[in-house]
Amino acid sequence: MNFFRNLGLLAKISVIVVAILTLFLGFNALLNYRQQKSIILGEALMKARGAAFHAVQSREYLSAEYLKGKVTLSVERYGLIPVVASNRIGMLVAEDLGYRIRQTSDRYRNPKNAPDAFETAALKAFRAEHSLLEYFEETKADGEPVFRYLLPFSADESCLQCHGDPEQAPDFIKQLFPAERDQAYHYELGEVIGAASISIPMEDLYMQIHANLRFDLMVTGGTFLALITCLGFLIRHTVTRPLAELGDAIGEIMRTGRFEEQLPGRGRDEIGLLIERFNEMSAHLREKTREVEESERRFRLLTENARDGIISFLANGQIILFNRQAEKIFGYSKREAIGMNILALIHPDCPSIHEIGAPEYFRIHAAELMREIRRIPGRRRDGAPLPMELALSLTESDGHIFYTAIIRV
Ligand code: HEC
Repeated sequence: MNFFRNLGLLAKISVIVVAILTLFLGFNALLNYRQQKSIILGEALMKARGAAFHAVQSREYLSAEYLKGKVTLSVERYGLIPVVASNRIGMLVAEDLGYRIRQTSDRYRNPKNAPDAFETAALKAFRAEHSLLEYFEETKADGEPVFRYLLPFSADESCLQCHGDPEQAPDFIKQLFPAERDQAYHYELGEVIGAASISIPMEDLYMQIHANLRFDLMVTGGTFLALITCLGFLIRHTVTRPLAELGDAIGEIMRTGRFEEQLPGRGRDEIGLLIERFNEMSAHLREKTREVEESERRFRLLTENARDGIISFLANGQIILFNRQAEKIFGYSKREAIGMNILALIHPDCPSIHEIGAPEYFRIHAAELMREIRRIPGRRRDGAPLPMELALSLTESDGHIFYTAIIRV
């Protein structure tokens, strides 16, 4: 969190915008993917249903036609048995359209029609649950995604000719599939004989979805990137750079104490107004500083040229102002005197001050010293005593008390 707090404004905004857009993009891609997946699964289901119904219809059509024309089936016409024919036609169509159809049964007659694990499960489900009209699922075959669909066939009257009592079956069927070796006889009416099983490979469709998704991501991502770049440029130009310049200008003022800096104006937006106010404040303070400097200069001239010695000192006795006349009187230069204690300028003959120290002395006697001019024995730099007259005034500034002594010899 600290890391984030220390980022620049532009970086912060970028991080937030990128995070939100990435989330949005990811969420959108996920929804999109799910939607497309459900669409292709829906399409696969329709296709499978179509193929299965097609198989049933062609079988029923062939049966009906044979009954009309009294066609007799034989070993030579094996491929014309409705189930066999519809199965083979279905297979041919499926080959062209890229899926697989077969008819299967767990009590198969032809070993080629033996069910695999998925088909066995479906057949079991059909037998257990008679109302189950279809069985489908998307699974993997050899690592590739496939959509698998099974439509159950239940035995009707016509089926029982060849799948019922073996005695009743046509001769060529009995001949080809003797009852002792065949498990596809002895079905009852309505019983599930087997199912049409359809597998639709989904790999190509998924590749299509992935390609679409990649394209979508690229387009949306590119748009977002362009948006973020423009936004970043705008924010840098209108917010962060002007703010940084303002910060630099304030830093410069803190460093130099001078209000010279004027920033270039930039319109009437919030930042523009801030800069305008800064310029106004800077101009105002520049004027004020000039006034203060001028009054200080006047004060200095006044004190320097006074005929009396003027010394200001803090309540603890530390000298802070020492004018030219005071230099002459005491023999200290201004530089030496400033910072010295006022006690050094008072002769040891005045023990009352020296005993209790300057702060205490002035605390007790200030009022009386301010009321009347006093004569006090001073002390020059060379130690010589110096009789002098002293008038005291007290000033308070910035919460500090300081005294100003006017000295005449
Ligand atoms: C004229 C005889 C005949 C009739 C009628 C017939 N079948 Fe069959 N059935 C066969 C033969 C023969 C096979 C083996 C096909 C092969 O070699 O692929 C077979 C195979 C099947 C299979 C594939 C599993 C396996 O045992 O190899 C299913 C499922 C099936 N029949 C269901 C039906 C249904 C349902 C009906 C009624 C609508 C029906 N059959 C009517 C002769 C018949």
